[in-house]
Amino acid sequence: MAMEVLTGRHPYSEQDLEHSELLPSYRVDLRNANNVRLDRFFKANQVNDWSQVSWKQIGKPYEVKNMSEDRLRWERENSKEMPVRTSWEMFNRSFHEWFEKDVPSELLGARKSFMRHMGRFEMKEVKTALNNVISLSLWNYAHRIQDGVWDPRGKRALFEGLDVQKPRILFLGAAEGYEAMQLHAMYPGGEVVLVDYDEYCKTNRFADFPSSYPFLGANPATGSTKVWYKDQMNIHYVVEDIRNLSFGPEFDIVLSVGLLEHFPDEYKAEVMEWHRKFLKPGGYVVMTTPRNQMRSRLFYKIMEDVMNHTYRELMDVRQMGLYVYENGFDILRHGFIKVHNGIVAKPR
Ligand SMILES: C[S@@+](CC[C@H](N)C(=O)[O-])C[C@H]1O[C@@H](n2cnc3c(N)ncnc32)[C@H](O)[C@@H]1O
Repeated sequence: MAMEVLTGRHPYSEQDLEHSELLPSYRVDLRNANNVRLDRFFKANQVNDWSQVSWKQIGKPYEVKNMSEDRLRWERENSKEMPVRTSWEMFNRSFHEWFEKDVPSELLGARKSFMRHMGRFEMKEVKTALNNVISLSLWNYAHRIQDGVWDPRGKRALFEGLDVQKPRILFLGAAEGYEAMQLHAMYPGGEVVLVDYDEYCKTNRFADFPSSYPFLGANPATGSTKVWYKDQMNIHYVVEDIRNLSFGPEFDIVLSVGLLEHFPDEYKAEVMEWHRKFLKPGGYVVMTTPRNQMRSRLFYKIMEDVMNHTYRELMDVRQMGLYVYENGFDILRHGFIKVHNGIVAKPR
């Protein structure tokens, strides 16, 4: 057995394919390792001809208007609207905490606290404890049990079938970089460049991403399935505003996850241009945005203090596709996974 497996640094190997396990903070998922029926995790092809889709038919996205208490307090104290960049800094610190939690143990603590305050009729504390239990239970279900945030099977199904060799991958608004690592595992041998203007994403969100998390990908020597880890990947983190990047058209894949929906319509063309300008001729744009479904609206309601610091829309894949199409891209694949829409496109 390899040294990394024995020491626990890389706890899973190709001998663990088809294994899934709930750890305290996240799910390990090595199921569907040989990609048979992986496609069912990506529900594709609602639209045949994008030139026939119009905003009049499909309507505009749903805007999430309820904001976190932290943002509201900041705006009260500063008597102005929070700058976008500050809102991202607040969001990244708030969201990251949740990936670090030992969820079963925190849930147990929250339930005990609820019972204790109930017994003493401390109603204010009861309310806080109950809110804690609800948020933790929702996070446990959405991230840990359902694996809806990382969704490795859905993401692999979306990313499958790209015609690339040793690609250079650029991730715009990368946060912890999860999806670029998944792409790099599937199409190894190239390079990943993660870009985020919030330095905390490099120093905490990416740095703390567990180096023992296994990504299912390919072995470049044999083409068979291989388990990859963060510290085996060729990753560079650039802390910079996307608008100031000096790269040319040099990437095989430009990726964004949860970026487009944070810009009102007057900025959407500019955001799509960010995806175009760094692409090599023939390169792929891969994008996802959160779905407009009842359970997502509920998630952003219950988790408002954790998640809602910035402008945010929820949309369906036709709305997302129309933004992509009308800004000059041909859509090669479109559909949805657990909680996100996904599109693979090329400039027209
Ligand atoms: C919603 S997050 C991406 C979702 C991510 N998967 C997560 O888990 O948080 C968007 C990221 O884009 C970054 N971002 C937004 N505008 C940017 C810009 N102009 N330049 C660089 N990064 C930007 C934010 O700092 C944030 O980390």
